[in-house]
Amino acid sequence: MQLIISTLFTGLAGAVAMKRQMPSEHTMGFIGCSMAENVAQGYVANNGKHMWGPYGTSGMVVQSWTNTASSSWKLFDQQATKYGKPSEVWVQICIFQNPGATYGEVQQLIANARQHAAPGAKIWITGQPIYPDNPSSCFLAGSQGPQLTVDLAKRAGADTSLNVTYPGDFKLMKGEVQDGCHANTAGQRSLGKQALAFWG
Ligand SMILES: *[C@@H]1O[C@H](CO)[C@@H](O)[C@H](O)[C@H]1NC(C)=O
Repeated sequence: MQLIISTLFTGLAGAVAMKRQMPSEHTMGFIGCSMAENVAQGYVANNGKHMWGPYGTSGMVVQSWTNTASSSWKLFDQQATKYGKPSEVWVQICIFQNPGATYGEVQQLIANARQHAAPGAKIWITGQPIYPDNPSSCFLAGSQGPQLTVDLAKRAGADTSLNVTYPGDFKLMKGEVQDGCHANTAGQRSLGKQALAFWG
């Protein structure tokens, strides 16, 4: 009887522990636009748990994040209140063709990310996805736009004074795009898998 009861309790405790959020869940935040949201959608669809899910960042290109008190950062802070200040943040450089983005603006995004994250947080940086079999596909960013964001991200990753990590490119192939820029369902799944490969 003793054994049965203790087994029962151990089982219950295990079940409760399983339901509780694991310590590493939702400890990674992100900033970016609808293209970051596409990654987050696919990440959640692929059962990714480490990074936040989508939180309504559509249209939030670089200039939405340069002012640390912007409505975009307020949205980020709401996520941080919900999950705790993130110990990692992915900074996605996402642009409209005009105005594009400067390296100075990218540096500002990184500084702001540190300010809104937990102390000592690890910062990741990428461009928006590129389109290897149709490079000028994304009219919103302009024909050279996606590559420009990747070049900025690589430059930041190589700049030791910034202490940020460039994990690689996100890629969208022709059949994975719905409007030239954004991922369709297959594209979201693909982006989500790429994110899992970078960050688990
Ligand atoms: C660089 O970032 C890492 C987190 O990725 C942090 O642990 C480390 O303290 C930072 N180094 C400096 C010099 O700030």
